[in-house]
Amino acid sequence: MKSSAPGKIILFGEHAVVYGRPALAVPVTQVQADVDISDSSRAGIWIDAPAIRLHAELNTLPSDHPIAAVIHNFLFLLRVAPFPNLEIKISSTIPVASGLGSGAAVTVALTRALAAHLGRPMNDEEVNAFAYEIEKLYHGTPSGIDNTVVTYARPVYFIKGQLMETFKVGQPFTIVIADTGIPAPTKESVSDVRRLWMNHRAPWESVFDKIGEISFTARRAIEAGKYELLGELMNENHTLLQKLTISSPELDYLVEAARSAGALGAKLSGGGRGGNMIALVEPELAEVVADSLEEAGAKNTLIAQVS
Ligand code: MEV
Repeated sequence: MKSSAPGKIILFGEHAVVYGRPALAVPVTQVQADVDISDSSRAGIWIDAPAIRLHAELNTLPSDHPIAAVIHNFLFLLRVAPFPNLEIKISSTIPVASGLGSGAAVTVALTRALAAHLGRPMNDEEVNAFAYEIEKLYHGTPSGIDNTVVTYARPVYFIKGQLMETFKVGQPFTIVIADTGIPAPTKESVSDVRRLWMNHRAPWESVFDKIGEISFTARRAIEAGKYELLGELMNENHTLLQKLTISSPELDYLVEAARSAGALGAKLSGGGRGGNMIALVEPELAEVVADSLEEAGAKNTLIAQVS
């Protein structure tokens, strides 16, 4: 049984979303995680994930291994006994630890493939709730936006624990996504922001409020197709993320390079410190901006149309 899930990118509101402010994220369908499950003629649950050089039987993996955790939790939750003999092939074109949601996409694709193969159908809401539990095991205090956009594969306006709305894109727009090539686990930047906030809440609450207002306005701008405004909002959001200390010289350099090459706006995206930045561009400038980002040191660029 085959299943897949796309990558994702956060357009606005990362970090502030952990503190209850709204955020916007969209699927990135050029990259995806694929899982293929079949019955095995050998005993055990065999996992083959060449991208992370994993070829192992489930029980030989440490119980906190992210893939083992998905399978164990799934089998226990749905009371699957005895454990079936399975071959599980996992492949993904989503770069790891870059803000494109690789972990969430593998979790969602694996959950769906297990559900379908074992005849225990799950709807999107159930898959999303399960994937959120898995995210919590690995990311400490995730907002849930990553698993949500990856599960529903639609643009989402998200408020943690309160609201998940898919929204309409007035006119398709183009973003360039560029990877600094610096792996940056989200868990670390999220816990650094938490430390700042715990020490002195008021100023950070005010930064989160401003980011939340930007997400709110950005949704309206996207619905109305006002892309000049959207670019300005990206720039403002990046400045606030710098204040939160989660940018880096490499991210700032790429953001500047994109703006100089004619992007309407640019910001880091996701956990920060490394990983990806995004730039909003006129479609005819997409290649030029992508080339400039590569010249400025980006390890990889992707041009995505959001519709
Ligand atoms: C990570 O993609 C987005 C963060 O806001 C963390 C989260 O929402 O869980 C940094």
